[in-house]
Amino acid sequence: MCDAVNDGDVIALNGLLKKVHRDGGYDFRGYKKGIVERRLQRRMHAVGAKIYPEYMRFLDDHPEEYHKLVEDLTIKVSSFFREPYAFQQITRLVLPELVSYKRKQGDRQLKIWSTACARGEEPYSMAILLSEFLGDEVRDFDISIYATDISWYSLGQARVGVYPPEELESLPAAVRRCYFTRRPGGCGVTDDIKKMLHFSRFDLSSPGQTPFTKLDAILCCNILIYLQKPLQEKILGMLYDALAAQGYMILGRAETLTGNLYGKMECLDSLARIYRKK
Ligand SMILES: C[S@@+](CC[C@H](N)C(=O)[O-])C[C@H]1O[C@@H](n2cnc3c(N)ncnc32)[C@H](O)[C@@H]1O
Repeated sequence: MCDAVNDGDVIALNGLLKKVHRDGGYDFRGYKKGIVERRLQRRMHAVGAKIYPEYMRFLDDHPEEYHKLVEDLTIKVSSFFREPYAFQQITRLVLPELVSYKRKQGDRQLKIWSTACARGEEPYSMAILLSEFLGDEVRDFDISIYATDISWYSLGQARVGVYPPEELESLPAAVRRCYFTRRPGGCGVTDDIKKMLHFSRFDLSSPGQTPFTKLDAILCCNILIYLQKPLQEKILGMLYDALAAQGYMILGRAETLTGNLYGKMECLDSLARIYRKK
């Protein structure tokens, strides 16, 4: 264990995070300190740095280390239909109302954003869900699922959309048959599903506006838990602004809505944390 990496070394840690922001362009200052510290230790150990100033010098000499650091600081755990209950409730509470509203409006566009998409499991699950729900009518809709993440590496894998068979074991056989095909290296998502997705890099902790507007639904699952409250509030505020009137926010059971939004969103399911903009 490095002796300088301990709870008391807040000033040095803040100095390092400032540098990572200024020189590397990644802002981890609003992340929970304990998680950042633990993961930083691993990275420092990997490059043989014992104290923060040593690691800062290493960063100066090896700028490519910034990208490796991001990959180590972020937690990528995900799976298809990770929270079955949440997806079930999206089918029950969100899709019927949303689709019938769209039909009435004569609006055939559906715009959904998966804000921390990891290797694509969440947005592909959403695309499969929509396909199952709409059946043949899926062709009548212009569906865009925007899938973003901070990690270039995860996005690269998400774009390829090929997964080891064991990662699909929990899916019903019919879903595997219908939406995946054998590919070198595993099972690949079919082109019909892939064409609904648009991958791009977006850092939720970067300041400014969202790249998308008037969204019908936003998924923001298993990311806010790693962040401190002020950053959570900032992100949720930004996502709220990106929603269309009556748009849906799906947070999943690990996340909570921050106080500033309680009056502005109606809770449709308190366990799956599904909300609708008032
Ligand atoms: C635990 S995974 C969650 C994946 C998926 N949403 C789910 O619930 O299964 C967290 C993801 O958040 C991404 N992430 C971390 N910080 C981020 C940021 N500032 N902006 C965008 N994505 C971020 C990580 O790269 C990782 O892919």
